[in-house]
Amino acid sequence: MKEIFDGIKTAVKDIAQALKYSDFGYTANQNATGDTQLKLDVLSDEIITKTLSKINLVKELVSEEKEKALKVSGDGEYIVAYDPLDGSSLVDVNFAVGSIFGIYKGSLNPANLVASVYSVYGPRTELVIAKDKVELFRLDKQGDFAFASELRLKEKGKLNATGGLQKGWDEKHKNLIKSLFDEGYRLRYSGAMVSDLHQILLKGGGLFSYPATSDAPKGKLRLSFEVLPFAFIYELAGGYAVDNEGKRLLEINLEKVHQTSPCYFGSKYEIDKVKACLA
Ligand code: AHG
Ligand code: MN
Ligand code: MN
Repeated sequence: MKEIFDGIKTAVKDIAQALKYSDFGYTANQNATGDTQLKLDVLSDEIITKTLSKINLVKELVSEEKEKALKVSGDGEYIVAYDPLDGSSLVDVNFAVGSIFGIYKGSLNPANLVASVYSVYGPRTELVIAKDKVELFRLDKQGDFAFASELRLKEKGKLNATGGLQKGWDEKHKNLIKSLFDEGYRLRYSGAMVSDLHQILLKGGGLFSYPATSDAPKGKLRLSFEVLPFAFIYELAGGYAVDNEGKRLLEINLEKVHQTSPCYFGSKYEIDKVKACLA
C-alpha cells in the first residue's frame, strides 16, 4: 500500500502547483453528475490518472470526472476511487479545496475500503492518511510530507456545518440544525466538504451534514469517492458517519459508481442527536 500512498503524495504535490498557476476557467463539458467541469477538475484528474496508473498494485481507477471505472495495466487488487478536486467551485474565490481518495481491495464495496487519504490545498498543503490510525502530514520546504499529529475526535464538538438548499430541507433536518445552534454550536460551512470535515476533525468535533433535500432526495455527495472515504476516516478517528436513517454509511449498499447518499459525520454527541432527531 505504501506505493499507492507515495503515488498520491506525488499527485497531490503536482495539483498544489497547478492550483497556484494554472488557468481556473470552465471547460464546455459536464461530468457524470452534470456539473460543468473546470479546467482544473480535468487537469487534477489527469495528474492523478497519470500517476496512479503506473502503480502495479492498482487495477482500476474511479473518478468523479470519469463516467465509468477505468481499468489500468496493473495486476494488483486495489481500486482507487477519488475526487480529484473537491470544492472546485471555490477556486475562483481562493478558498481551501482538496482531493479525496478511497482505496478499496477487490471490489468497490464499503466493506472493502482499506484506507483513505485526503489533501487540503490551503495556505499550506496538508495530507491526511487513514489506515490503522488517522495521521496528519504537512508539506515542508524540502517538498516532503512531514508528520504533524495523530487526529482523534472528542466526544462532543462546537461546530455545525450543513449543506444543500435550506428551502429544500425537511422538518427533521431543520429541527436538528436549529437545536444545535440553540445549544451554542457555531456555523462553519465553506462549500468544500474536504475543508469543512478537516476543520471539524482538527478542532476535535462537531457535525458536518449534507441532508436529503426536496430537489435531491438522495443527497448530493457521492459515496465512492466523497462520503465513504470520510466515513472511514471519521470512524477511525473515534467518530461516527451515518445516513438520514441513522444507519452506518460504511454498511450502505453501493450499486453505482456515482451513487449519492444523505450523510452526517460527527462526534458521539452530535451523531446521537442526529439519530434522535431523524428517527
Ligand atoms: P465538487 O467540487 O467535487 O463537485 O464537490 C462539491 C461538494 C462538496 O464539497 C460540498 O460540501 C458541496 O458540494 C457543496 O454543495 P452546496 O453548495 O449544495 O452546499
Ligand atoms: Mn467533491
Ligand atoms: Mn470534485
